[in-house]
Amino acid sequence: MTAVQVGDEPGGGFFVTIEGIEGAGKSTLARFIGGRLQSDGFQVIVTAEPGGDPVSEQIRRLLLNSADSITVRAELLLFEAARAQHVERIIKPALVEGKVVICDRFTDSSLAYQGWARGIDPRDVQMLNDYATAGLKPHLTLLLDLPPEVGLARTREVDRFSREGIEFHHVVREGYLAIAKQEPGRFVVIDAQRPFNEVAALALEVINSRLRAKDTS
Ligand code: TYD
Repeated sequence: MTAVQVGDEPGGGFFVTIEGIEGAGKSTLARFIGGRLQSDGFQVIVTAEPGGDPVSEQIRRLLLNSADSITVRAELLLFEAARAQHVERIIKPALVEGKVVICDRFTDSSLAYQGWARGIDPRDVQMLNDYATAGLKPHLTLLLDLPPEVGLARTREVDRFSREGIEFHHVVREGYLAIAKQEPGRFVVIDAQRPFNEVAALALEVINSRLRAKDTS
């Protein structure tokens, strides 16, 4: 069954996700792009996973700060539960209203972290991603790529994931690059070691050209 893509219908919105390891600059880029598109006249929402909705935020706190150990399968299911809530309550309604939705992390985070790095079969992750999103896929995914040594040195946040060893983050990075290769039409890989203004200019150029292509299709 081909899922009907929210946002593909005339007047529908545009869904961009930003992915990458810790310290890649995803949230700064999401806010910057959001501001620029808004001043260009688009209606935009900038959101992030895990989170974006009150229930998803509670799950986020549990996932990132729980003092008790969370099993690998439970962790995946919690990310997916937060995502299901976020998609239905925030992302889909915005797309139906024709907005541009910019989301810092989405389904590819689960594939890279829970699939590649934690070792869950990617087919299971994909199946749960599809279930949680009811088949909703980003129109465009920007992968901010950089070595984990550089990313982790940039981040000040300390949570269950940033505390993982460097090898974990290497596998996450490898995973992202492999996922991007499988879907070259959806992914654009950007070298996040470049100065922020160059990364931002490139990201805006890609988004604007996709938005123009969407308008004329
Ligand atoms: P966050 O503080 O949002 O990290 P960052 O600023 O790096 O985006 O914490 C989210 C953490 O959760 C991050 O380490 C990646 C992890 N994560 C997963 O493991 N799977 C997922 O599906 C998502 C959305 C996040």
